[in-house]
Amino acid sequence: MSARIIDGKAIAADLRARVGEAVKTLPGQPALAVVIVGDDPASQVYVRSKVKETAAAGMRSLHVELPVDTPEADVVARVKALSDDPAIDGILVQLPLPAHIDAQRVLDAIDPDKDVDGLTDAGAGRLALGRPGLRPCTPYGCVILAKSTGEKLAGKNVVVLGRSILVGRPAAMLFLLEDCTVTIAHSKTRDLAGLCRTADILVPAIGRPHFVQGDWVREGAMVLDVGINRVPAPEKGEGKTRLVGDVDYEPAAERAGWITPVPGGVGPMTIACLLRNTVLAACVRRGWKTPAL
Ligand code: GUN
Repeated sequence: MSARIIDGKAIAADLRARVGEAVKTLPGQPALAVVIVGDDPASQVYVRSKVKETAAAGMRSLHVELPVDTPEADVVARVKALSDDPAIDGILVQLPLPAHIDAQRVLDAIDPDKDVDGLTDAGAGRLALGRPGLRPCTPYGCVILAKSTGEKLAGKNVVVLGRSILVGRPAAMLFLLEDCTVTIAHSKTRDLAGLCRTADILVPAIGRPHFVQGDWVREGAMVLDVGINRVPAPEKGEGKTRLVGDVDYEPAAERAGWITPVPGGVGPMTIACLLRNTVLAACVRRGWKTPAL
């Protein structure tokens, strides 16, 4: 079997366009604040895209850039001020934060109703309890991609590799809400290959290039590769790099029924879902009718 490709780039573009259309129908303009501390190059690229796409969808965006040595208390105070600012609907603090800052203290300063990343205690709690709320963007993007295949999700065995706060844990909760049977695997899991072969839907989110071997993929399974890893690409020239996922793509695609490429799979969904969450947050907070998105 040769896998059908799940075109995350196109699905994300479609969602961004639908968000843009929905924004036009709102009685006001939602506003997203994106906070970055320090100058990590990859984070800067992500944050610039988030700010740009927010504006492209017709929303206001506030780009808050703080120096790498900003004291934790100052970052917390800045985030608290955004939480208290009635003009701001969504707040995203880009992770990771510099080592001297306790990320949880900063996240705790986000008003849960503005938590467009779904990372506060309240956001994660609402998800764990299956209550309505803003869902973490990357894992929610995985669920949208899984649904885009037209496959029925209820009853499927999902194996999530990785237990991160940003992806693994919320992905497991989201697939559970879709009535899947979910297993979270991690560094202490025994017989990882055998476990992965039980998956109807495999969601690797560990950040290790080509970690998942082709023969770990069950024939016909769906593979949603969350990994985005930069590796040397000497074939492109000296010092060049390329992006690869957590899955050894070609052999996995031979066996899978569906697979997301890297780049162009799960990655583009993160920002599209962030824009969606910003609209949802604005509607709930301001009492506007929530558009179907
Ligand atoms: N760093 C990498 N991905 C993300 C994300 O989705 N949200 C935040 N806040 N930080 C990230």
